[in-house]
Amino acid sequence: MDDTEKIISEAETEAQEAKSSRALYEAKMKFLGRAGKVTALLRGMKDIAAEHRPAFGKKVNELRERLEELFASHEEKVKARELAEKLQSEQIDVTMPGRKEEKGALHPITRTRQELIEIFAGMGFEVFEGPEIESEYYNFTALNTPADHPARDMQDTFYLSDGFLLRTQTSAGQIRLMEKKKPPIKMLSPGRVFRSDDDATHSPMFHQMEGLVVDRGVTLCDLKGMLDEFAQVMFSGEKTRLRPSYFPFTEPSVEVDVSCFACGGKGCSLCKGTGWIEVLGAGMVNRHVLENCGVDPDLYSGFAFGMGIERIAMLKYGIDHIRLFTENDVRFLEQFKN
Ligand code: PHE
Repeated sequence: MDDTEKIISEAETEAQEAKSSRALYEAKMKFLGRAGKVTALLRGMKDIAAEHRPAFGKKVNELRERLEELFASHEEKVKARELAEKLQSEQIDVTMPGRKEEKGALHPITRTRQELIEIFAGMGFEVFEGPEIESEYYNFTALNTPADHPARDMQDTFYLSDGFLLRTQTSAGQIRLMEKKKPPIKMLSPGRVFRSDDDATHSPMFHQMEGLVVDRGVTLCDLKGMLDEFAQVMFSGEKTRLRPSYFPFTEPSVEVDVSCFACGGKGCSLCKGTGWIEVLGAGMVNRHVLENCGVDPDLYSGFAFGMGIERIAMLKYGIDHIRLFTENDVRFLEQFKN
């Protein structure tokens, strides 16, 4: 029992060295735990002569009480320090500037498609979407382009098996719609199309916007008027001109140019000195196409147009390579925020 003071001073040293409440608890257990020194002393009681036991027991109890006090006072200090540290580290500085959430933006293709839809929706067009995997019938045959027709070579087609292909043009949607709906028709059909073609302005996948109007007495003049409205809104005040062209599904067929918005028609590098920029193909729906869809060409007439959405976006935003649309470079995409 001469050890009492030694044990107390050992406990004091260990308690002082314990920097956390967990370490302090472990130190306390070395003395007061089940396998601790005090318990060991009590266990040794049986080896002590009976007459000395009460005195021994008393001393051990005193020792235990002193140890308990000792650890309790350390516990208080450690807890107070830990709380202070916690409060310090979890402090919120309400004057700190906030973290900025970056806002996303619509992809330029999405944005251009929406703009186009808005323009034509304002003229009463409804959106109709056809499938990307098409049959040869809808993509070509019904559009007055049978298998042996040389115009099939105008588009480098990705063929699938069993008469199916990746549609090369949204014109396939004209047929699908006319099979379902009788005139009057005012359809706008946006979508992805596919052609084996790859350079700065062509990509194997791109987007088109198809337009189709069928009713009694529709003329090329109506087409011109609507395209002028489109050029006016899309290219801020420009006008259009029609040049003769050829598509198997329209007769007559035209290429549509927009007056050059870069030079106002005087001639510049964008319009290659002509004052005009080609933007789309169009024409009066070929009577064979109407017949193929069960529409009487003697009662009804119509016009159709098809434009590349990438082409419109490239012109409008001055984009010089079509691949920029699919590379997902944030530096490019960020420029379309507003
Ligand atoms: N489908 C044609 C193309 O992809 C464009 C077009 C559509 C032409 C409608 C005339 C009428 O080139």
